[in-house]
Amino acid sequence: MDLTLLVAALGLLLAYGYYRVKKVVNFWADRNVPHNPISFGKSPEQGLHMGKMLQKHYNQFKGQYPFAGMYFLFKPLVLAIDLELLKCIFVKDFQYFHDRGTFYNERDDPLSAHLFNLEGNKWKNLRTKLSPTFTSGKMKMMYPAMIKAGRQFSDYMEDKIAVESEFELKDLLARFTTDVIGICAFGIECNSMKDPNAQFRQMGRRHFEEPRNRLRDSVCMGAPKLARFLRLKMINAELSEFFINVVRETIDFRVKNNVRRNDFMDLLIAMMKGDNPELGSLTFNEIAAQAFVFFVAGFETSSTTMTWALYELSVNQDIQSKGRQCVEDVLEKHNGDLTYEAIMEMTYIDQILQETLRKYPPVPVHFRVVTKDYRVPNTSTTLSAGTRVLIPVYAVHHDPEIFPDPERFDPDRFTPEAIAQRHPYAWTPFGEGPRICVGMRFGLMQARIGLALLLKSFRFSSGQKSTVPLDFTPKSFILSPEQGLWLKVDKV
Ligand code: HEM
Ligand SMILES: *[C@@H]1O[C@H](CO)[C@@H](O)[C@H](O)[C@H]1NC(C)=O
Repeated sequence: MDLTLLVAALGLLLAYGYYRVKKVVNFWADRNVPHNPISFGKSPEQGLHMGKMLQKHYNQFKGQYPFAGMYFLFKPLVLAIDLELLKCIFVKDFQYFHDRGTFYNERDDPLSAHLFNLEGNKWKNLRTKLSPTFTSGKMKMMYPAMIKAGRQFSDYMEDKIAVESEFELKDLLARFTTDVIGICAFGIECNSMKDPNAQFRQMGRRHFEEPRNRLRDSVCMGAPKLARFLRLKMINAELSEFFINVVRETIDFRVKNNVRRNDFMDLLIAMMKGDNPELGSLTFNEIAAQAFVFFVAGFETSSTTMTWALYELSVNQDIQSKGRQCVEDVLEKHNGDLTYEAIMEMTYIDQILQETLRKYPPVPVHFRVVTKDYRVPNTSTTLSAGTRVLIPVYAVHHDPEIFPDPERFDPDRFTPEAIAQRHPYAWTPFGEGPRICVGMRFGLMQARIGLALLLKSFRFSSGQKSTVPLDFTPKSFILSPEQGLWLKVDKV
């Protein structure tokens, strides 16, 4: 072959390669957007929790521009900073930001096609169908089941302190929320309170605690089309089989025996049968996927919230006493009955939970993806379709200009007057806008019940095995304490 031709071809190829790499590496610089250079190899941030890592970037760039540029797997990424921009992303310009860009594969991994992952019209239709499942009326219907699980939890604690004075609470709290969601989403008494190895609890542990396959996750995140072509699945096959079977058995049993229990499953079954034409209908796989997401989105978030609340109450005894006083005062007004109405009157318990969710948002980052080119208000930047956007909730919640002295735990930040002083998008542990957590009421309700029952009967303090302060485990996306939560527990 002609040598000059070969050299010329190679040269051209190299030049093209160089041009492409430069375009990737200089993506944000070319657009005059504040950013840190793309990093190759091991970054000093490895081992930091994602929430903390984004906090560093947020603090570095805040005030310069409404957002900062970042890179992930050689792709540009937007870190939203300005609260007015958050408002646009969450609400005002939702039409550009309705998707999260998380991976799902409906064909090979049917459980992954759930409300959290779905996109576009599919999401919208499903959200419209499911929203009526979570109204306060429905919460009231499920309240007795929740209280029952709460009492089992409280009884279990009574037995436990009879033999031990110091123990680990994170797992106990996860067992409590597993029982609540098990009964409300599946109508199944999971019994994980009494049996730590109950199947539901085991499956929940596996979902959150088993190490993830990083290569697979990167392909799913970075190249979803390829991942679907390769038929990759994000949900462990055994886990998937377990849930599909549970849902199938539950539905079969209820349909055959005409059982109604006023829970999520009833409402889902009604949609499968198309009982209410206004709600439309769902297929079996669609029902199974939603029951699955209620389970995984529902138990760990709420149990870590309670875990952090108890931790803070153990190191802030004055706040703990005030919380207990609130429970006692309200119960007295209600003849000692922990009714739905009583729980709703415990405003200081709510303030404790809101402050907990500020300091420890279980979901420390919100995800969106730009679905059509978007001109960022008050800038000359246009974000092209496909760009990922991160909202660093943890960083905003710890910004001293928004929450002064952010490491101080202070439920008085959530009096109505204090809330009115702040930007409405300063506190978003459940996200915001049309994609806000659909289970917010449910999550708050089980946390209120758990906390009220615990404070009523027990006093929590640091013991010999307690760690102060606690670290975030980098192994889990959900903010959770590396060391678990060891506390000394006494009867009130
Ligand atoms: C303290 C408890 C909880 C916290 C902190 C929490 C947090 C969140 C957050 C941050 C999102 C994303 C919001 C956004 O992107 O704007 C979300 C979505 C979601 N959550 Fe929760 N959650 C909690 C409890 C629950 C419970 C109990 C359930 C179900 C029973 C649930 C089901 C869901 C679902 C299905 C979505 C997806 C909604 C959609 O995309 O339309 N969550 N949650
Ligand atoms: C754009 O600037 C105007 C005027 O300063 C301001 O009122 C508005 O909130 C800004 N919008 C965004 C999204 O930052």
